[in-house]
Formats: sequence, structure tokens, C-alpha cells
Amino acid sequence: MIRILTIETTCDETAAAVITDSLEVLGSVVASQDKLHQKFGGVVPEIASRAHLENIVLVIDETIHRSGIRLSDLDAVAVANTPGLAGSLLVGLSAAKALCVALKKPLIAVNHLQAHIYACKISFREDPFPCLGLIVSGGHSSLYRCVTPIDFTSLGGTIDDAAGEAFDKVAAMLGLPYPGGPSIQKAAERGNPKAYTFPRSLLDEPERLAFSFSGLKTAVRYRLVGPGKTTDPATVAAKLSEQEIADIAASFQEAVVDCLVGKSIQALQKTGMKTLCLGGGVAANNRFRQKMENAAQNEHIRLFIAPITLCTDNAVMGAIAIERFHAGLFEPLDLDVYPGLIRNK
Ligand code: KG4
Ligand code: ZN
Repeated sequence: MIRILTIETTCDETAAAVITDSLEVLGSVVASQDKLHQKFGGVVPEIASRAHLENIVLVIDETIHRSGIRLSDLDAVAVANTPGLAGSLLVGLSAAKALCVALKKPLIAVNHLQAHIYACKISFREDPFPCLGLIVSGGHSSLYRCVTPIDFTSLGGTIDDAAGEAFDKVAAMLGLPYPGGPSIQKAAERGNPKAYTFPRSLLDEPERLAFSFSGLKTAVRYRLVGPGKTTDPATVAAKLSEQEIADIAASFQEAVVDCLVGKSIQALQKTGMKTLCLGGGVAANNRFRQKMENAAQNEHIRLFIAPITLCTDNAVMGAIAIERFHAGLFEPLDLDVYPGLIRNK
């Protein structure tokens, strides 16, 4: 049996897991930093990297303990080294390298975006490849042709904000806590998604595989403070009723979901692909999951969406390292981080 320790510190979750070559999860720990970033309404990179430093050894220790193995039982150590926040990535990479030196085990690089799609394979125990992959997270809204788990070609992505970033920024405008996605989803449960008609950018351009959420964000801002005003939207939102906030949240969420669902279908039609895998924190959104499932049924598309805990950042999805292990893709100990670059195909 092969056992790999996977480490994930790309953004604001410190996570580790031990996975076997039959994709069994022996142990998994996720330490969230949500509370640290809450008062800033978003992730503060310097705070994130310091928190990773404080947590990383504890998280790895606890993961090994829960796995019921010893460090020396590991066959390799894997770490996400792209994309993400530079300081955060460095903490995970340094820990992984130290373990590799101490244990004399090989190092494996994990591409965080590929790992988000791989979460679908782990959950369904079925091979979805080749497939269209949509990764919607705090930093990405990207469409890929996923030929194999480790061979992705970019088909397009956002030209401004990522979907999760739009959720986080609009939540801050509405005075809802970070992370914005779950807060907006909760507020939207009591709201009317048709209360406001917010823009669905680029849906009228089916040939263009791109997303844009800044117009939508501005539309919410205008709804709150009006055009050309410098007033803080959160102070306006604080005077609105709970129902008004719920209606704005629901209408905003509906617009994002329509863009994601609509563009995915356009991408499937354009590429002729018949399988769609969703990954990333925004894929945890109930309304998105529901509308995507309906659309996939209507279009006869095989749809894979991982369970919610495997959509948001975790180290279980680092099981993609098993694929690289079998392909003999190991890294030298001078491996670097690539914050914005998908280096390892
Ligand atoms: O994949 P992820 O955990 O971290 C990154 O790689 O960025 O994604 C985090 C993003 C945040 O922007 C968060 O607001 C969003 O995913 N998110 C959601 C939901 N849960 C998390 N967005 C919409 N609905 C949700 N339920
Ligand atoms: Zn992520």
C-alpha cells in the first residue's frame, strides 16, 4: 500500500491528509483561519502566512495521529505549490521539504486547481476524465479542458473578479461576515431572487469562454448607495431591513449562478464535451449545485460535484499526488512556489 502525506496552504486553510493509492483517506485535518480574516472582510496575506506557520506542525502531527501511522510509514510527501498566496505557499512547501529531508522520502508537487477537480474523482470513485473542468474559488473562475488529472488546457476564465471574490466583496457591502459565499447563501434563503435584475455579463456572447463579475458588483453597489457616491455601502446596508438584505443577496446569488451555469453549458456546447466537473469553494453553493444539476439533466451532461467539504480548500484533494507518484513525477528539493502560475501540468 502506498501512503502519501498531502499538505495544503495555498490560501487561508492549513490542511493535511494521508491518502492511500486506493484513494482511501486515512486521516484529514483542516484548520480554518476564517475568524482571523473576518474583521478585514477578506484574506490578509501576511496574517494568513503567519497563521500557517503557527498551525502547520500541529496540523501535520494531528493528521498523522488520526491516520494511525508513523511518519516513517509514508512513501512520499506532496504539497500544493501553485497557485496561491506566495507567503502561504512557502510555509507548506518548507514543511514538505523538511519532512522529505528528514524521512528521505520523495517530494511531489500538487497543482491546487487540478486538485480541486480531482476532488470529484475521489468523491465519486469514478473516473470523470476527459472532462470540462470549472474551478470557482476565491481566486479563480476558470474553465479547463481536463484531458487527464494532470493535463489541463485553459479554455478561459474571468476577466476581472473571481466568483468567490465577488461573493466576498458583495457580502462586505451588505455587512455580512467573511467568508461571503456562505453568508450570502444563508441570507438568500429568505430572499426573492427576482427582486432585482442584476446583470449577467457575457452570457450573450456564447463563443467567448469568459466571465465578468465586476459589473454585477457595481450594480449591487449602485442599488445600495447610487451611482457616483463615495458613501460606504455597509453603512447604507445597516439601515435596510433583513428582508431587503435577503432580496439583494438572493438576486445577486442568482445572477452569479446564472453566469456560471450558462457559461458552462456554452463551453460544453463549444467543445463538444459531455462531462463536467465542478471544483472550488463556490461549488459548495446550494443554489449553484441545484441549478447546475437541472441544466446538466436537460443537456444530457454527466455532472460531477464533490461534497461540500471537498469543494472548499482541503488536503484530501491532494490525492492527485497519487497520479504523479505512479507517473514517477517527483520534484527536486529546490522546488519553488508559483503564486500565479500553473507550472506543473
Ligand atoms: O476554494 P476555496 O476554499 O479557496 C480558494 O482556493 O480560493 O474558495 C473560497 C471561496 C470564498 O470566496 C468563499 O466565499 C467561497 O469560496 N464560498 C462560497 C460558498 N462557500 C465558500 N461561495 C458561494 N457559496 C458558498 N456556499
Ligand atoms: Zn481552492
